[in-house]
Amino acid sequence: MSTIKTLTSLAKTDALAGKRVFIRSDLNVPLKDGVITEDTRIRASVPAIRMALDAGAAVMVTSHLGRPTEGAVSKEDTLAPVANRLSQLLGQPVTLLTNWVDGVTTSSGQVYLLENCRCNIGEKKNDPELARKMAALCDVYVNDAFGTAHRAEATTHGIAKYAAIACAGPLLEAELVALGRALQDPRRPLVAIVGGSKVSTKLSILQALADKVDQLVVGGGIANTFMLAAGLSIGKSLAEPDQVDQARAVIDMMKARGAAVPIPVDVVCAKEFSASAVATVKAADQVAEDDLILDIGPQTANQLAAILGLAGTIVWNGPVGVFEIDAFANGTKVVSQAIADSPGFSIAGGGDTLAAIAKYHIADKVGYISTGGGAFLEFLEGKTLPAVEILQQRAQA
Ligand code: 3PG
Repeated sequence: MSTIKTLTSLAKTDALAGKRVFIRSDLNVPLKDGVITEDTRIRASVPAIRMALDAGAAVMVTSHLGRPTEGAVSKEDTLAPVANRLSQLLGQPVTLLTNWVDGVTTSSGQVYLLENCRCNIGEKKNDPELARKMAALCDVYVNDAFGTAHRAEATTHGIAKYAAIACAGPLLEAELVALGRALQDPRRPLVAIVGGSKVSTKLSILQALADKVDQLVVGGGIANTFMLAAGLSIGKSLAEPDQVDQARAVIDMMKARGAAVPIPVDVVCAKEFSASAVATVKAADQVAEDDLILDIGPQTANQLAAILGLAGTIVWNGPVGVFEIDAFANGTKVVSQAIADSPGFSIAGGGDTLAAIAKYHIADKVGYISTGGGAFLEFLEGKTLPAVEILQQRAQA
């Protein structure tokens, strides 16, 4: 982290005492009827806020919530539920401020949550005018939003250009260290698990990983497309036939390096996608025309568990079956348990992956759980994250 200024090191000096600190967090949490259903990102954002408070600062925090239309804050866009949760976690009031861009009044030791930053006109386009105004609100800008580090927006990028001091918060720092450790010099074998419905949305990550990992485990609809590429029939299962050539290219790339994409040897099928559907285990070459593949079979799950048991490093994004329905959850359950039991260092990220980790109670056995979804994938692909790059540039200037 030597190339970036950090809040941790600033907090050790008296640089923050009496200062106005602006923290960009990622508090984009799932909500149902205004109630937060999963608060990992809020909890993960607390240490930076506490650090700045303890160092004597007045703390402004902002985040986006969802993908609102700029120009107004509608009922669904408000960070009000987040303010309440944050206040509980901090054990002190959190004041929610709207219309904050042109100036706010703050006091040391207090926390202000600046309403959904994506409702400000110019946020998404990284408008320099908006970024300058926001930079003027603070003495120190802190980016602690790893989950949004792949976006060049006014609160993640522009403001970092213009703020007097720009640094990384402890969460951003921890994410970069943990993910970097898994990729830069991983203990081998390096095994990646990439689940999800579509090859097309994860093609670049599959291609990038095909160049690095020893085993590339695919799951969900992605695995179905890979089964097609391997010459197997998949019935009515979710797949993208137009991506078969791309899948084959990934398999060939892996083979050429002496690495492999394990193709399922058995699968769990049903005739319909429903919680009451009858689940049938079939050999991978016995799938009927009217079958839907909804999970990997027990033999495949055991093979994957063996691979994971020998892994030096595991990178996990996405379940291997429809684990929300118990009849199709065994594959993801076995894989989750194998990751938990593996002596290798594991990192996991993405909403569905976090849900699987919670369902199988393995959070304390995963080496590092990322708060990033898209940012996690882009980091694994080796892409430059604009919000990190600007902090590096500022540190060099
Ligand atoms: C996420 O949920 O992955 C982050 O908060 C980024 O959200 P975005 O994809 O809307 O930029």
